[in-house]
Amino acid sequence: MRMRCLAATHHRSTMPRQLFVTTALPYANGHFHIGHIMEYIQADIWVRFQRMQGNQVHFVGADDAHGAPIMIAAEKAGKTPQQFVADIAAGRKPYLDGFHISFDHWSSTDSPENHALSKEIYLALRAAGLIAVKPVEQFFDPEKGMFLPDRFIKGECPKCGAKDQYGDSCEVCGAVYAPTELKNPFSALSGATPVMKTSDHYFFKLSDPRCGEFLQTWTQDGKLQPEVANKIKEWFTKDENGEGGLGDWDISRDAPYFGIEIPDAPGKYFYVWLDAPIGYLASLKSYFASGGPKARYGEQRDFEAFIADPAVEQVHFIGKDITYFHTLFWPAMLHFSGRKLPSQVNVHGHLTVGGEKMSKSRGTGLDPIKYLKLGMNAEWLRYYIAAKLSARNEDLDFNPEDFIARVNSDLVGKYINIASRAAGFLSKRFQGRLCQVGGTREETPETIQAQEMLRSLQARQGAIVELYEQRDYGKALREIMLLADRINEYVDANKPWELAKQEGQDARLHEVCSVCIEAFRILTIYLKPVLPALAEQVEAFLNVPPMFMAKSQELLGVHTIGDYKHLMQRVDAKMLEALLEKPEPAAAMVETVKPGGEDIAPTITIDDFTKIDLRIAKIVNAEHVEGSTKLLRLTLDVGEGRTRNVFSGIKEAYKPEDLIGKHTVMVANLAPRKMKFGVSEGMVLAASHADEKGTPGIYVLEPVAGAQPGMRVR
Ligand code: MSP
Ligand code: ZN
Repeated sequence: MRMRCLAATHHRSTMPRQLFVTTALPYANGHFHIGHIMEYIQADIWVRFQRMQGNQVHFVGADDAHGAPIMIAAEKAGKTPQQFVADIAAGRKPYLDGFHISFDHWSSTDSPENHALSKEIYLALRAAGLIAVKPVEQFFDPEKGMFLPDRFIKGECPKCGAKDQYGDSCEVCGAVYAPTELKNPFSALSGATPVMKTSDHYFFKLSDPRCGEFLQTWTQDGKLQPEVANKIKEWFTKDENGEGGLGDWDISRDAPYFGIEIPDAPGKYFYVWLDAPIGYLASLKSYFASGGPKARYGEQRDFEAFIADPAVEQVHFIGKDITYFHTLFWPAMLHFSGRKLPSQVNVHGHLTVGGEKMSKSRGTGLDPIKYLKLGMNAEWLRYYIAAKLSARNEDLDFNPEDFIARVNSDLVGKYINIASRAAGFLSKRFQGRLCQVGGTREETPETIQAQEMLRSLQARQGAIVELYEQRDYGKALREIMLLADRINEYVDANKPWELAKQEGQDARLHEVCSVCIEAFRILTIYLKPVLPALAEQVEAFLNVPPMFMAKSQELLGVHTIGDYKHLMQRVDAKMLEALLEKPEPAAAMVETVKPGGEDIAPTITIDDFTKIDLRIAKIVNAEHVEGSTKLLRLTLDVGEGRTRNVFSGIKEAYKPEDLIGKHTVMVANLAPRKMKFGVSEGMVLAASHADEKGTPGIYVLEPVAGAQPGMRVR
């Protein structure tokens, strides 16, 4: 009854908005890491806020199933790609439920809907004259019989000669290059030397003036975040040589590939990034087919009519690394296939943990499932992330001390505390009954003050709603905590614990505690998008139906509340210690075991090995290299009656003085290499994890005591 009245008042002024909201579709080659969860929390808060405003929301996600890396990972795991992806998908639920992420539907880009829609959109682009076929020469693995994606080609850096570098950039000197520039390239899949091979590729002609014109307008008309729009401007600009600007986009890959076959092009598949965003539409389509929207909103709409309806807002939440795909390729695909465009593409920065970037293969020390298993409250994290989020595309750091401070002092200390301070008196002294503030008693100054305070809390609704709408959650929470401060000041000024001891102060005590509960309820409404499960507990405690935003403008008045049960614990610092402990390497591996972060290199013969002359070397001197952030200059004695000069990328891990006098192992027959700082006459051996080249995780080898300079290592 109550709820219906409210919805009716809400909808009278404006029609509810119709929102189609998505988050980026995560690659199905691993479990969620905390960065994914951050994105889902950001979107989920917005979605819950919109639902609380009475708006209709369809919030969908899906696994991004296609592409060479997933195909290769599946093969290594001895599964079909379909099986591999299904196994990953099966593990999603505990994360989403655990952090209260309220997707309405979850699908996969390998769904029949996506196969059909991708082909349809492609054919429309082709009909618009925007598809071209051009020969492309690329590395081909003759053993595997497939073209190699850049990250599966390795070799020596064309700039500095560092070994074992990926096909796109050098981790030692930072150079960026094409895979064809690598020296002594090899396939990371088979170890075979790749050969150049030509094949026809399909291109989306983004260089067509129609595309440039459309995108320049669409990206710069104020709908994107200003810093994002500015960045995009650079992508349109040509340099003085006429280079840069929008180039044609290669959208095909040759078989074998896990993806969607291109119509009329046997053996050619859509590049994963073509069908991935179409997966947003396909997931919504499969949600419509499941009858979900009808069950929720009582009407069944045709999917195509819905998605084309100008009144429907399509809103994407994505991370900054995939801006290019979502602000150029995706709108162009939609527009030139005759479809409606997104209303918002909201770009967020990346989450770091204790200042450390997330590594693709290992995630971080903050495993979302471990967080839940340790009994940590999901809403602490939701609150903390929200408190650090703004509408801007900025990175944010998970900092354990900051986490403890915000949860314990703000969330629990300021907000939860209000209820616990009042609830006991109400149940012990007044059978849980609230009194109407100022209703039955004379208007004393205290009563007037209390009413004003409640009114001032209600008056902030407009501002808080606007901050949620703009995704300025950090500001919204600061605003709400200021209101909590105001209520706590009220409690401190009125001292219910003293009123409780005084004769004849029952009415005052009753009023003060009722004011606290009324105020607590208003704050709970404001916090509900961030703290949905807590708000539900509060609704049970207050004995009220689910609360909408507009409900903040009413008071409970004479009303009986339920028993207060403690609503939220404080964080224990020990939990965070346990959470941030680096996991055992074995436990951190999700799919295939990669010792030290990389596969064992292809087999060699003993003859291959003996070609390498390893010698014990004494480090007679070590010093910084002027102008290099990575290198140390080592002077090595290999028992030759002269010393050698060797540059080594270990500066971040060692102070020169700690190395002088030590013995190590060097490659003594490596061809001398001319570098920017001089000639390097060999290489010292050091151990590192695949992800930590050039960072402090480097360990120079040292022989057991007694080895002499010049001794051969075999
Ligand atoms: N499959 C593509 C997206 C296709 S969308 C049609 C992809 N997947 S992903 O799994 O690598 O990333 C999914 C989302 O997580 C992206 O929005 C990405 O920016 C986000 N994040 C990945 N690491 C992140 C952080 N460290 N912090 C916050 N978000 C991060 O890209
Ligand atoms: Zn290099």
